[in-house]
Formats: sequence, structure tokens, C-alpha cells
Amino acid sequence: MKDITSEADVEQLVQAFYARATKDEQIGHFFEHTDFVKHLPRMYAFWNFILLGKEGYKGSVLEKHLHMALTKRDFERWVFLFTETILANYAGETADMAIQRAQTMAWTFATKFPEQ
Ligand code: HEM
Repeated sequence: MKDITSEADVEQLVQAFYARATKDEQIGHFFEHTDFVKHLPRMYAFWNFILLGKEGYKGSVLEKHLHMALTKRDFERWVFLFTETILANYAGETADMAIQRAQTMAWTFATKFPEQ
């Protein structure tokens, strides 16, 4: 398996993640009203910045989630699906970094939300 090295890899990762997340019993419903035509380019820009150091994402990620009725358990599930997506498709330093960064951000966000 190859590592995440290009913007095409990042796009494929984001799409593979949402293929799982949108169908997921626990967190799928949060994406019911998401306009993916608008949302996907923002996710590509976000992960291109985090993983490949490409400038372009402007936003405040935590704030975009504060209005959602998320719980710590939802964040755990998000991390599980994200990690599963990476491990099924990529291997290498950047793939490992993606898992670590996702975990760190999810745990940080989760501190702002209730248990369960
Ligand atoms: C259970 C956990 C999560 C759920 C259900 C969730 C769901 C969503 C939804 C529905 C949106 C808004 C889409 C729209 O514009 O309509 C969004 C935006 C976003 N999420 Fe999450 N999210 C979760 C966790 C995370 C985590 C842990 C990260 C980062 C590692 C993340 C990164 C982002 C980014 C970058 C955006 C775009 C913000 C922007 O528009 O600038 N999300 N998320």
C-alpha cells in the first residue's frame, strides 16, 4: 500500500471516509443536510494543509461543530471510521500522521461536548 503523497490521494481519502461516515448508524445522520458540493472542497483544503502543508484552508473547524448535538462517543466513532479508512487504503509516515492528527483534534473537540 502507498502513502498519502498528493492532492489526488487526499481527495480519495476524504471521499473514502465519507463513503463510510455517511452510511454509519451512529454518526451518518449528522451529514443528512450537508451540501457535499460545497463541503468536499473545504475538506480537501483542510487535509491538504494538515498532511501536505498546502496553504488554502481558511476556517475555524471547532466552531463549525459547536451547534451540532455531538457527544464524546460520536467523536470516538468518527476517529474509528477515519482510522479504518486510512488503514484500508494507505500506509506510511503521512498516513500515520493523518491518524494521529485526527485523533488529537477529535479528542480536543470532544472536551467541549457531553459524555454519551
Ligand atoms: C462525530 C464527529 C463529527 C461529525 C458528525 C462532523 C460533521 C461535520 C459536519 C456536518 C460539517 C458541516 C458540513 C457543512 O458545511 O454542512 C463538518 C465540517 C467540518 N468538519 Fe466535521 N464532524 C466531526 C468531527 C470532525 C473532526 C474530528 C474533524 C477534524 C479532524 C472535522 C473536520 C471538519 C472540517 C475541516 C469541516 C469544514 C469546516 C468548514 O466549513 O470550514 N470534523 N463536520
